Amino acid sequence: MKDNKNIVFTGIIASSSSLNNLEINSGYIAVKDGKITKRGSTEEFDRLEKSGEFSTFEIVKLSPDQFIIPGFVDCHTHAPQFPNIGLGLDRPLLEWLAKYTFHLEKKYSDTEFAAKVYDQVVQRLLKNGTTTACYFGSLHVEGTLELVKSAIKHHQRALIGKVSMNKENFAEYYNETKKELEEVETFIKQVISYQNELVEPVVTPRFAVSCDKELMDGLGSIAKKYDCRIQSHISENTSEIDYVLETNPKCKSYGHVYDESGILTNKCIMAHAVHLTEDELTLLSSKGVSVAHCPASNTRLKSGLCPVREIINANITVGLGTDVSGGDNASILDAIRRTMDISTCLEMRGNDKYALDWKEAFYLATLGGAKALNLDHKIGNFDIGKEFDALLVDVYAKGGQIDKFEGTLQSNPDEYALDLLQKFIFVGDDRNIVQVYVKGEKVKDAL
Ligand code: GUN
Ligand code: FE
Repeated sequence: MKDNKNIVFTGIIASSSSLNNLEINSGYIAVKDGKITKRGSTEEFDRLEKSGEFSTFEIVKLSPDQFIIPGFVDCHTHAPQFPNIGLGLDRPLLEWLAKYTFHLEKKYSDTEFAAKVYDQVVQRLLKNGTTTACYFGSLHVEGTLELVKSAIKHHQRALIGKVSMNKENFAEYYNETKKELEEVETFIKQVISYQNELVEPVVTPRFAVSCDKELMDGLGSIAKKYDCRIQSHISENTSEIDYVLETNPKCKSYGHVYDESGILTNKCIMAHAVHLTEDELTLLSSKGVSVAHCPASNTRLKSGLCPVREIINANITVGLGTDVSGGDNASILDAIRRTMDISTCLEMRGNDKYALDWKEAFYLATLGGAKALNLDHKIGNFDIGKEFDALLVDVYAKGGQIDKFEGTLQSNPDEYALDLLQKFIFVGDDRNIVQVYVKGEKVKDAL
């Protein structure tokens, strides 16, 4: 790891240029110092190779069963909640937070515990092809810095927030306002001081149930001062919305509570957005806020069926989130499938042309996520000049779920390539992701 070689891959390469445009064909992609420097056809590769263009490159020739896609982007997950994955999903959101989640998150005052968990979390995500993750940490500065250190150690691209909360709760998991604002600045300065190009701090008000106006105002100002991204939750569950409106009687919607404090900017990522009103859709769209769609937790916690198509049609940028441990699966492949399933359910209930197909869901998991996190100038597809975050997929990898039935895929090369990718999207798992690259460095090698 961390030997940033020049590499050229030849074989099937797939990436999206927009929601409705998947580019997939045979060719080559050349990577120098972590960045994509050249792309072209197989014929062009043959010519350039003969001319000695790639004499200093490692050449990776993919088999006909393999392809390269952009790394997955997880726009929303909670690293400290991983020890609770699969637990307590019989409760609605607010009960689940109070009974399970806050108690676990409190444990991250122990930095040794934090370091151990986060090291596993980062490796788990990389193994599953998540090359970029936007993480919630816990309330603790030192604990959350352990997450930053793990991302740096394992070379994952990561946006990381120390969670902010100042409202009392039964778990006694909150900070006094002044202390909280000071700690957020300490965290941001510390992350910046690491000068790591892959990791950035995110201002992270947990949600309007846990933060009062004074804290929210302060966090809005800090985000502005450091030009940071902001992440939070919005309109996930109807009891949550009722509570937020009750405690903010002057605001006409949940969205307006955030807007009053300057939280809604074009560097803001809001998770869930299951129950937004027309008015809120217009508000988020006008402010350039992105949405992290978290289908697993939306159904596990019975929060609701998120109308993703409507959100996209309102010109809001959408990416996917696994939202562990409200979500029960850390893999973005799972989020892709659940996105298709939920939108299909909504279509079957009478919403015409509502379902997102696999190519659209693949876009949300890659370029959509990169746009949602304001990282699409660097990642999300294989445009020349972008950084090479990629997965090498072997559809028939040993031990995987997909059996090979010789001669059954379509023989036309374009259709064959589409068939391969489609099989992986619907049936593949981490065993098919045989190599993972972040900024040109190999972070997983199961070949
Ligand atoms: N809303 C506030 N905190 C959380 C959390 O940890 N998980 C989910 N799913 N929703 C939240
Ligand atoms: Fe969440």
